[in-house]
Amino acid sequence: MVRKNLLISTILALVLFIIGLPAVQAADEAKDVIKFRQNLMKGIGAHINNIAAVAKGKISFQGNLVSDAQGIVNGLATTGDLFPEGTEGGKTNALSSIWEDRAGFEKTLRESSEKAEQLLGVIQDSGDIKEIGVALGALGKSCGKCHEPYRKKM
Ligand code: HEC
Repeated sequence: MVRKNLLISTILALVLFIIGLPAVQAADEAKDVIKFRQNLMKGIGAHINNIAAVAKGKISFQGNLVSDAQGIVNGLATTGDLFPEGTEGGKTNALSSIWEDRAGFEKTLRESSEKAEQLLGVIQDSGDIKEIGVALGALGKSCGKCHEPYRKKM
């Protein structure tokens, strides 16, 4: 009986612990959101640089092309959520034009996402380095089309 009670209270404690976890709400403080999106953009930059190294013939290793391209697709898919109201100040290179012209920002984001998906498609379907280079160039341009009006000069 004592052992059974112990077991029940252990299970109960475990259940309460698991239920209690979501109660620890993330604070989403502006400075943390800014850091988070900068890290995401750095990641996208790292992915594109590695694809470029292959496309330029500097690196023969092609095993990461798909995951690098997928990383860009995934990153851009969440980018829109990472610029909420209240994150326009502080240590950010984001320009206030993002919040003044949200529709324009979202449009350039969609276009960039499309180019990233096209690059992923070319990598998966053809694997031809020349074609990858062309798709990569188009993607690179689309990054600039957002950075130009919506990001401080870095
Ligand atoms: C829809 C707009 C948009 C698109 C598309 C976009 N970016 Fe950015 N990017 C930004 C903004 C805004 C910042 C500044 C973020 C901040 O400082 O809060 C940024 C920052 C960066 C940074 C600097 C991160 C840091 O703080 O060190 C890199 C690198 C970067 N982007 C790479 C890319 C690449 C590569 C692409 C294309 C594959 C891309 N971005 C597409 C808007 C965009």
